[in-house]
Amino acid sequence: MENNIFSKADKLFNLSGKVSIITGAARGNGKAIAKGLARANSSVVMADLLEQQLIEAVNEITSEGCKAVGIKTDLSKIVQIANLVEQTIKKFNRIDILVNCAGVTFGSPSEDYSEKLWNKTFNINLNAVFRITKLVAKQMIKQRFGNIINITSIGAVLGFPNNPAYQASKGALQQLTRAWACDWAKYNIRVNNLCLGYFKTAMTEKSYSDPKIHELRANRCMLKRWGDPEDLAGPAIFLASDASSYMTGNDLIIDGGWIRTGLIEGQ
Ligand SMILES: NC(=O)c1ccc[n+]([C@@H]2O[C@H](COP(=O)([O-])OP(=O)(O)OC[C@H]3O[C@@H](n4cnc5c(N)ncnc54)[C@H](O)[C@@H]3O)[C@@H](O)[C@H]2O)c1
Repeated sequence: MENNIFSKADKLFNLSGKVSIITGAARGNGKAIAKGLARANSSVVMADLLEQQLIEAVNEITSEGCKAVGIKTDLSKIVQIANLVEQTIKKFNRIDILVNCAGVTFGSPSEDYSEKLWNKTFNINLNAVFRITKLVAKQMIKQRFGNIINITSIGAVLGFPNNPAYQASKGALQQLTRAWACDWAKYNIRVNNLCLGYFKTAMTEKSYSDPKIHELRANRCMLKRWGDPEDLAGPAIFLASDASSYMTGNDLIIDGGWIRTGLIEGQ
């Protein structure tokens, strides 16, 4: 019984001694993922540009006895990205896990979609991820260990109206994951996507609180409800831990069954 896989489950999912950076961690999905990794015993470095909310999120996690620090970072600025990585290495001497969660979305009809919104979206959803991940990967290569999780969306693989930049940026990110997984597997670095359906966060506040849209989206998926950011703790711990040790370059889809629904009841 001692060697039974279930008796080792705690160890499989334990992130003790691991150092994680989570971007977009002041609220929503990033905060829930940071909390999950911290509860699994990782030290978490939480980055976001929302200073006050970041302080509150860090306090929420440390008040549970978990290890968390916040570093205010505007990911649209290369120097601030470099500072985040440098400060983390200075404090902890290593980076084991990187969760690229910060993201933005600007809905607008495709035929009039502005260059400004296109560039703003790509700058955070793709360019910032490209920049931070290269810096973090250099450290992970030295360590011969690392685990990178990119937060993507069902919009990376399905068509949605009036949001071309978001979909293109998440689609590109989903594929960038495979390029990095291929290049860095030899250094014992795994790279995977956590691909999300609709979650209740500030990003979706408008549609969540519109009763008609709320119902439509809930009923569109098999589980008939929106995701709660807390639903992401388990999947994030799985991807960040040895529990997923033979998984790389892949997608873990957390969408209540949205993508795999063949027929919506009543339609
Ligand atoms: N909510 C959903 O339904 C949903 C669905 C699919 C994917 N996602 C993805 O989940 C991730 C988190 O989004 P969320 O839903 O929690 O929304 P959110 O708006 O609550 O969180 C996004 C976070 O990113 C931060 N951020 C944005 N620009 C930044 C910058 N320049 N520098 C630093 N931080 C910055 C914001 O301050 C915010 O804290 C995003 O990548 C989003 O695309 C969300």
